[in-house]
Amino acid sequence: MKTVTRLIKKVLETQRLSKQEIVRLLWAKDTEKAELTAAADTRRRTVFGDGVHLRGLIEFSNQCGQRCTYCGLQAGNGILSRYTMTAAEILAAAATAHDLGYRTIVLQSGQHPDMPAAKLAQLINRIKKQWPDMALTLSIGERSLEHYRRFRTAGADRYLLKQETTNERLYRQLHPQSDYNNRLQCAWNLQALGYQLGSGHMVGLPGQTAEDIADDLLFFQALNADMVGIGPFIPHPATPLADAPRPDLALVEKTVALARLLLPRSHLPATTSVESLAPQGRKAVLQAGANVVMPNVTPLCYRRDYQLYPGKAGVEQAARRLQESVETELKSIGRFSAPGRGDAPGALATIGGMPHEL
Ligand code: 5AD
Repeated sequence: MKTVTRLIKKVLETQRLSKQEIVRLLWAKDTEKAELTAAADTRRRTVFGDGVHLRGLIEFSNQCGQRCTYCGLQAGNGILSRYTMTAAEILAAAATAHDLGYRTIVLQSGQHPDMPAAKLAQLINRIKKQWPDMALTLSIGERSLEHYRRFRTAGADRYLLKQETTNERLYRQLHPQSDYNNRLQCAWNLQALGYQLGSGHMVGLPGQTAEDIADDLLFFQALNADMVGIGPFIPHPATPLADAPRPDLALVEKTVALARLLLPRSHLPATTSVESLAPQGRKAVLQAGANVVMPNVTPLCYRRDYQLYPGKAGVEQAARRLQESVETELKSIGRFSAPGRGDAPGALATIGGMPHEL
């Protein structure tokens, strides 16, 4: 049997691969790559069916105190005009998401230490009272255990905190102001508080090797992440990494496929960054194991200022148009938007409750 066929058979049977085996699959080319993505696509269908969960993304503030060397929102980017949406604007965006049929909203912002926890907790509470059938995901970076607890008590269901890379040396280079171990601790705190946890990383970071990507995948598995956001690094002109190259779409597809095989029950989004990397990117990743899309519902007037990377897809289209284009694309590949909140299959027991006291 060919090596790639043997490794795919192994992971389908055991959900395990060694680091070297993952690296071997990351190098897969042409028919080998097609075999890998087809296996992941079948796995996705067996676990989740053909429904794709749509999560409405509200980018409610681009204020950020961090200086991550890849990100367009980093504090040193003086060209960007900074905004924070008002509570009324955020509620209106949540209403739009609900009207469009989305049953998850994601509140995302830069990492902004001055964003008052009390105000945010109040807002979470209002949203959850108004739309009890809608799950709420937070994505606002590293905060204290106490803040995470307040947001959870207020009703937040999930939290997205990507590790970005598990190579500590690379992590330190990319995040001069933050601490690798603190980020890990934040993820563990979130899990202990009963959040469904999303992790993830960027693929194609300058200095990142296939071994690093393999380590990341093994980390997501060990963490038992409910969601894994895998996106290509896209160089931003207003950052120190402006001149770095972009990765190939093929590498992103293979990484998503491996994540599906190693974490069969985790939600895997086709990220906006993959859509921005290549016109067919989102479709390709949806056919390589992904089962989630996060259409933007941020008011159009703010979209341009949430520029994580250049050429970000969908900055011109209103929420309804974005939804239509997702639906059309899903239909073209025999998929459809799934009803309901789309909770992590393993997390159902913890919804509405706090399983562990910290
Ligand atoms: N390229 C790709 N993704 C990026 N992000 C931030 N900057 C970039 C970039 N230049 C991603 C990070 C972060 C998410 C909100 O956006 O992975 O977690």
